[in-house]
Amino acid sequence: MCGIIGYIGEKNPIDILINGLKSLEYRGYDSAGIALKNKDQVETIKSVGKIINLEEKIKSTDLISSNLGIAHTRWATHGRPSEENAHPHQSGKITLVHNGIIENADELREKLKKEGISFYSETDTEVVAALINKYYEKSPVDAITKALQEVKGSYALGILFEDNEDLYAVRKDSPLIVGLGQKENFIASDIAAIIDYTNKYILLEEKEIAHIRKDKVEVIKEGKVIDKKIEQTNLEKDSKDKNGYDHYMLKEIMEEPVVLEKTFKPYLEHLDSLPDLTKYEEIHIVACGSAMYAGMIGKTLLEEYANTKVEIDVASEYRYKNIIYDRKTIVILISQSGETADTIAAMRKAKEHNIDTLAIVNVKTSTIARESDSQIFIEAGPEIAVATTKAYILQVGIMALLAYKTALTKDLVKEEHKVLEEAEHLPRLIKEVLDRQDEYKEIAKEIYKEEDIFFIGRKIDYATSMEGSLKLKEVSYIHSEAYQAGELKHGTISLIDEGMPVFAIITDDTIKDKTVSNIEEVKSRGAKTIIISNESWDNQKLQVVVPRISPYFQPLLIVPTLQLIAYETAKLRGCDIDKPKNLAKSVTVE
Ligand code: F6R
Repeated sequence: MCGIIGYIGEKNPIDILINGLKSLEYRGYDSAGIALKNKDQVETIKSVGKIINLEEKIKSTDLISSNLGIAHTRWATHGRPSEENAHPHQSGKITLVHNGIIENADELREKLKKEGISFYSETDTEVVAALINKYYEKSPVDAITKALQEVKGSYALGILFEDNEDLYAVRKDSPLIVGLGQKENFIASDIAAIIDYTNKYILLEEKEIAHIRKDKVEVIKEGKVIDKKIEQTNLEKDSKDKNGYDHYMLKEIMEEPVVLEKTFKPYLEHLDSLPDLTKYEEIHIVACGSAMYAGMIGKTLLEEYANTKVEIDVASEYRYKNIIYDRKTIVILISQSGETADTIAAMRKAKEHNIDTLAIVNVKTSTIARESDSQIFIEAGPEIAVATTKAYILQVGIMALLAYKTALTKDLVKEEHKVLEEAEHLPRLIKEVLDRQDEYKEIAKEIYKEEDIFFIGRKIDYATSMEGSLKLKEVSYIHSEAYQAGELKHGTISLIDEGMPVFAIITDDTIKDKTVSNIEEVKSRGAKTIIISNESWDNQKLQVVVPRISPYFQPLLIVPTLQLIAYETAKLRGCDIDKPKNLAKSVTVE
């Protein structure tokens, strides 16, 4: 979603700000802008669409010289994508950029209008600028503090004051860091924006205000300057490169064997280091999108092999439902970014009820990583493509290990060594599956001109179908739906037409005969079936056969095939694969 970078130092900030915005592009945006400051002059330039448009505009403008600036990529929430609505926003002496949503913006706008303040944009952000300006007399920190007392919602703000030479920043429920350089400092919503200049940073906590000069950073909490720990990221500068691949999505899929090995290593050596879920009478899994589908695989494995009942819900529902916590419960939150607004709210709800929270998370400095009671970190490294691939695989992998450990603790595992041995072979087996790109290209050729595609499966294969369908639709824009194979005939089968592609996932031996009957049902209505399975099927033209492995890990060999089919299909359709339209990498609004 929106991205922020700010700079103060001795250099001209334009290149640094534009480079930072480009590093944040992956989060999704529809307009961009920068503000530069010199003495009491502030100049803003904004444009709709890609950052290249902003660059063109900057090139054709005679800009003020400057050593201080802020920049932003906007993903529209309040008001359509337009230059007026793009950030930075200005009101009186204030210029600012904002990530998040101000929930009482309408109410505040009306109040300010009555006080004679006028507005030029439809955004909630302009209201914050007006409010800070209203309270600004001499002290920027006082003005920010007073204004934010009236604001409800989430914000990460980078703020310039017309008659002050420093940079200010503050956050609540939306991430923001202060990057520390030599005679230069930065603000950023994501370390990726500043990694080319520094790997040292301070994490701002809720409502802490940063007062940033080129050679000094003060963090103020409740009126007092506080000491802050200096963090260091191990993110490599080149982690932002595509390493010769056409797209980040492909690069990230190809990284799956390596990141799985890294993530599994400590747990395969010490399975005991995984939490003991048998201590709980109830398990809730809560997440959004693909992370939720990873949870569905976990639920199926826990129920099927560890005889453990699991409730699962999407976070946007869970946070508002009447959840009855009357048994010893653990809430497992799954999130790559650790900043998904609904998942954060679900976590906080559980904590308010004194329920234990366990996060399966990639970004170690994220809100979910910091606020959850315990964490299992997946080692995906930065995931730049908007559509998750390697992080999803690792989420599934961790759920499989948790289910296995739970089954083991309950004495339900028969071939203990076999399962763990197979886990060790997984990186090699995934690589084998990934290396068969010609097969996926062939299937992509069969489907890329279609406008509707179905995925069917039962039990764990249904959970896998959900992810296959989501991946295909989000990157190729082909409408696609996943159905429990047995459910299709209760209405949806009326949509099956001559030649319509139907993917069937068949790996679960206990139910495969039933799925085969459902395949016959769609075939006899003209569907073109594509079977993805761990065995080969006679008289089936389109099929992918992956190695057979323990059911705990079988989805880890099926999903890469679905990811690559989605990728190849999107490529044939000429889609913007790494940044599909309307999508954002980190969904920080509800
Ligand atoms: C789909 C996708 C999304 C995310 C979802 C949750 O490819 O990436 O569905 O899985 O937005 O995001 P995180 O895991 O960051 O909480």
